[in-house]
Amino acid sequence: METKHWVVDKSVITHQHYPHIKEAADLIRNGDVVAFPTETVYGLGGQAKLDSAVEKIFQAKGRPSDNPLIVHIADQADVDKLAHSIPTYAYLLMNAFWPGPLTVVVPKKEGVLSERVTAGLHTVAIRMPDHPAALALIKESGVPVAAPSANRSGKPSPTAAKHVLDDLNGRIAGVLDAGETGVGLESTVVDCTGDYPVVLRPGGITQADIEAIAGKTDTDTTLKQKEETPKAPGMKYAHYAPEAPLYIMEGLPAVIQEKVDEWRAEGKKVGVLAAAESAAMYKAEAVITCGCRSDLASVAKELYGALRSFNEQPVDVIVAEAFPTEGVGAAIMNRLEKAAGDKWIKTK
Ligand code: TXA
Ligand code: MG
Repeated sequence: METKHWVVDKSVITHQHYPHIKEAADLIRNGDVVAFPTETVYGLGGQAKLDSAVEKIFQAKGRPSDNPLIVHIADQADVDKLAHSIPTYAYLLMNAFWPGPLTVVVPKKEGVLSERVTAGLHTVAIRMPDHPAALALIKESGVPVAAPSANRSGKPSPTAAKHVLDDLNGRIAGVLDAGETGVGLESTVVDCTGDYPVVLRPGGITQADIEAIAGKTDTDTTLKQKEETPKAPGMKYAHYAPEAPLYIMEGLPAVIQEKVDEWRAEGKKVGVLAAAESAAMYKAEAVITCGCRSDLASVAKELYGALRSFNEQPVDVIVAEAFPTEGVGAAIMNRLEKAAGDKWIKTK
């Protein structure tokens, strides 16, 4: 299949201006799958009501079928068509953060969506993205759009159309390219089926942001303990990993450099993932910078691109600086730990 590549300008998107949006929306209406930008990462969209379209998403990504998809909408009123028994605090969160990087998990209305979207669960994950191309595409499609991140399963999520094409060229009908995404990490997934919100996947909206609107809030205990099965099925899979083994290390650059030197003495080619403040302090085969420690949002934005770029470097092993877990740092460290398969190097 030839994958179409439509370049659009984020600042002036309306479907009148953009026949591309119309073409992409027609493909979605016809049951094909198309990648599109959101404010978090690129998504791979298909009709959420159509089994065959949802099947194409799983096929293109190589995604395990027990991992449910997020349904994307362009109008908050559509939530009530897809879900029922939505608690008041969930509406407060939607009012506060939509459009934006928040996904709510709510009880689903039976018989509305393809069963494959929800992977047999009685809940559905819904979000309204904050990106003009995404909103225009969903509106023009006129259907709820199921969309996981537009990467091959296990790879870092795509923050640029190039990443989408690297993974999925020839496997999908097209990609709408509006340049780099903003947040750089996926949305915060919040379980809204209980008495108070529970964060299942940390993301661009922080726990403190949620608490400020909804009061009492918790985090899925499996994210803290790691033994049990997480409530967001996708959180149990290895993810975001570069090809070379990745380790995380706390401590000053001089201490991390000692480990780098040790590996190099063994003949290994070493990659270092470092914040801009310390990148120049390392001597290694590849030092890749990932935002500024003083601005964790910039680290979030650049993390996946940095992890991907190690695959273009001849490295045998990678060490990443650890980041603080305050604010969006919680999401950064959650993804970095997944990319590393939880491999830490203890400082002596
Ligand atoms: O920012 C995002 O959320 C991006 C963009 C494209 O919108 N999408 C995204 O989708 O990250 P995906 O499929 O890569 O991740 C969806 C996560 C998975 O961990 C999945 O298990 C969880 O949401 N999820 C989906 N439906 C769920 C449900 N009903 N209950 C619990 N977790 C659910
Ligand atoms: Mg994903």
